[in-house]
Amino acid sequence: MSTVYIETYGCQMNVSDSELMYGKLQAEGYAPVDSPVGADVVLVNTCAIRENAEQRVIGRLGELRRDLKPGAVLGVTGCMAQRLGPRLLETDTRVQLVVGPDAYRLLPQLIEGARNGERSTATDFDLEEHYEDFTARRFEGVKAWIPVQRGCDYRCTYCIVPTTRGPERSRRLAEVVRETQEVAAQGITEVVLLGQTVNSYHDGSADFADLLRAVGAVDGIRRVRYTSPHPNDFSDRVIAAMAETPAVCEHVHLPMQSGSTAMLKRMLRRYSREDYLACVERLRAAIPGLAITTDIIVGFPAESDEEFADTLSLCRAVRFDDAFTFKFSAREGTPATRMPPEWTIPAAVVDARYEALVATVRGIAREKNLGRLGERMEVLVEKEARKGGELLQARSRDFKTVLVSGTPDLVGRYLTVELTGTTGATFTGTPVQERQPLPMAV
Ligand code: 5AD
Ligand code: SF4
Repeated sequence: MSTVYIETYGCQMNVSDSELMYGKLQAEGYAPVDSPVGADVVLVNTCAIRENAEQRVIGRLGELRRDLKPGAVLGVTGCMAQRLGPRLLETDTRVQLVVGPDAYRLLPQLIEGARNGERSTATDFDLEEHYEDFTARRFEGVKAWIPVQRGCDYRCTYCIVPTTRGPERSRRLAEVVRETQEVAAQGITEVVLLGQTVNSYHDGSADFADLLRAVGAVDGIRRVRYTSPHPNDFSDRVIAAMAETPAVCEHVHLPMQSGSTAMLKRMLRRYSREDYLACVERLRAAIPGLAITTDIIVGFPAESDEEFADTLSLCRAVRFDDAFTFKFSAREGTPATRMPPEWTIPAAVVDARYEALVATVRGIAREKNLGRLGERMEVLVEKEARKGGELLQARSRDFKTVLVSGTPDLVGRYLTVELTGTTGATFTGTPVQERQPLPMAV
């Protein structure tokens, strides 16, 4: 039997796409393996969001060349494949396949062709494509990624995603519910709904509020998460659905990008600093105990000291539980690359701002986390933190990582823990017996 190995870079959407590709190829008779060494087909599922993501892949392709057995097929899939297309075949002569996110249906036949020596590129967008007839081959046993929307119709000026993933389209609600029921039947209790601007989901008759309620009502599903929403798509309906659906977790990842209204305009984010804060307040008012995490970019063209200070002050105003911080990376073809060259921020300034931002974000998270020691909460055990060390990694509903000692048989189980320590970012916890009601005296 032929074997296939897929190496995944980038976001959860890519992880989910790799699961779909594995599923499709398995159905076609390929056995998934967990190493490129000796595999018949090796696919690298790539990300193009920042320059360094692509550099990593280029470096990795060089390494893989050495691991490949003679005659093995090497392919590049995902956003970098879509972005570079045939250019990838020119720069790396070992690569035989370049397949974009909407063309995975063609993989079996393209691989066949490659085995006969062909080299090909498949990068057409397909607005109907949701891979409904593929069965994802999942490797994560505790939670399931469920794509509900592909592509993006926003045009944030820094972002390559609209180019690499095409226009926005939503899966039908009934299909999302069907897949949720399937994973629940396999014993999975947590689902993560994925979309580039997931809360703009609309399948023609149902919106994201309907989707949250429908998925949250599936038997056996105890936790529903979603990523990433856009602040402008938090309608009252969506917030109410989040608040009123018990399975939907008390966490939202709400990309802010910048705290300056002028900067947000240059980024074409379509909201102001005040709009963002108002969105946070509406969410917090509706959902007690809501944790909020975010994405922030520093060094976008023309970022002034004042604008950067606005980013720090909005972080302090919101008090994020955590933030992913990025240095701006110019992506070929995006509107940001057409801004005046004198707007470019010197690398040393970007570095200094980046460090200041990380220190601010960490300081806030640490303060918040220290304040929670002693709290009791429900966690879901996700995996062994260290193989054999009897240390487990668990997660709270509000997305805190909690390390708990215990044996691997607890993976997939829910425990009540007391938070006993924190590094500032993650917690340690001790399982506590749920207090039983005392027997009535007779
Ligand atoms: N440079 C730096 N960061 C970027 N992001 C998206 N595009 C870029 C870019 N060109 C960040 C945004 C987004 C996250 C997924 O990646 O913060 O929310
Ligand atoms: Fe990129 Fe903006 Fe779309 Fe997010 S919303 S994928 S940042 S264009």
